[in-house]
Amino acid sequence: MKIRQFTSGDEEVVCRLHNEAFNERIRALGESYKFHHATVEEIGDWLETEKDNIWLADVGSSSVGYAHTRVNIEKGKKEIPTLYIVPTDWNLGESRIAVASSSQRMGVASGLLQTVLDECLRQGLLYAAALSHSDNISAKKLFESFGFSQPDVFMDPEYSEDRPLFNSSVYATLDLTKQLSNIKLNSNVRVRKARPDDINSIAEIHRRNVWWCEECSALKWTTDYISGTFGHDVLVAELNGDVVGVADLTLGSPRIGIGGVLPENRGRGIGTALLYGLLKGMKAYGIPMALADSGMTQVEAIRIYRRLGFNLEKKQYVWVKSME
Ligand SMILES: CC(C)(COP(=O)(O)OP(=O)(O)OC[C@H]1O[C@@H](n2cnc3c(N)ncnc32)[C@H](O)[C@@H]1OP(=O)(O)O)[C@@H](O)C(=O)NCCC(=O)NCCS
Repeated sequence: MKIRQFTSGDEEVVCRLHNEAFNERIRALGESYKFHHATVEEIGDWLETEKDNIWLADVGSSSVGYAHTRVNIEKGKKEIPTLYIVPTDWNLGESRIAVASSSQRMGVASGLLQTVLDECLRQGLLYAAALSHSDNISAKKLFESFGFSQPDVFMDPEYSEDRPLFNSSVYATLDLTKQLSNIKLNSNVRVRKARPDDINSIAEIHRRNVWWCEECSALKWTTDYISGTFGHDVLVAELNGDVVGVADLTLGSPRIGIGGVLPENRGRGIGTALLYGLLKGMKAYGIPMALADSGMTQVEAIRIYRRLGFNLEKKQYVWVKSME
């Protein structure tokens, strides 16, 4: 077996390998988890930056496996150069390392991963990281056999004392064809559609909650977000007339997003009221299922999903290997 880098003309074989290996995911999870069949044109776009690479495993004259990697510089207290095996989607997907079914269990992915790790050492990177769903046993075995760990939350003080460098997530789903749980809501909280004059409050809530998303607290982005440019219906929660929480649903999609509640107003049922408002809105649109992904750091959100009867059977694991 020979491992080599992608060259122009390999788009077709990478596309075929990807679509075959992820076919079951695409069929079972589909667009809800942003899995779809790739097109040949799309493969070229994967090499988005000069930090992207596709590695191919050749046996004889056939390519039987691929891995797509990217070097990201995580900017914290210090810069942490990290190599990711790029996922199909950062929140909902799995890393793009795949082997043709006829060549699985023959060490092909191991050969690709070894090359990727050698490359990390050569470039002096600090970590290698990948993402897989918790029910993907082959991926679990593969990463474990190379000494990757699978933390819920991974801290590196060189990056930050209080923000994780990596974290796993949990997927929470709820069947919306059934009645919503009958829970008691805080009657002082009013949930309503966001208006243009909520812009500063929403930007502030995002700034203090989704700190990893810089654009989410920019005023231009927030204006577009409220007006539905990205396809969202945005709800806010008011407590005594002040906007203290924000959440959204996406038309035609099961995905829900809780932008957050201002830290000083937590623990008063505001997140629960927001989520309840979203679920009612989704039911009214006839959306049959709700899907939320929450980082394992978001313990309050996870508690609310449990309270409202969500199913939390699956996680997105982060796999981490320190190269030092
Ligand atoms: C995951 C995948 C890339 C593994 O490829 P592979 O070439 O079969 O893996 P290898 O032969 O190198 O095996 C690596 C390790 O995983 C184990 N393994 C691989 N597939 C396994 C399976 N189906 N069940 C149990 N163990 C498995 C191997 O035994 C080996 O561990 P060990 O030798 O220490 O026991 C392949 O199954 C695949 O393409 N799956 C579909 C796409 C996918 O899920 N990609 C990963 C997303 S994160």
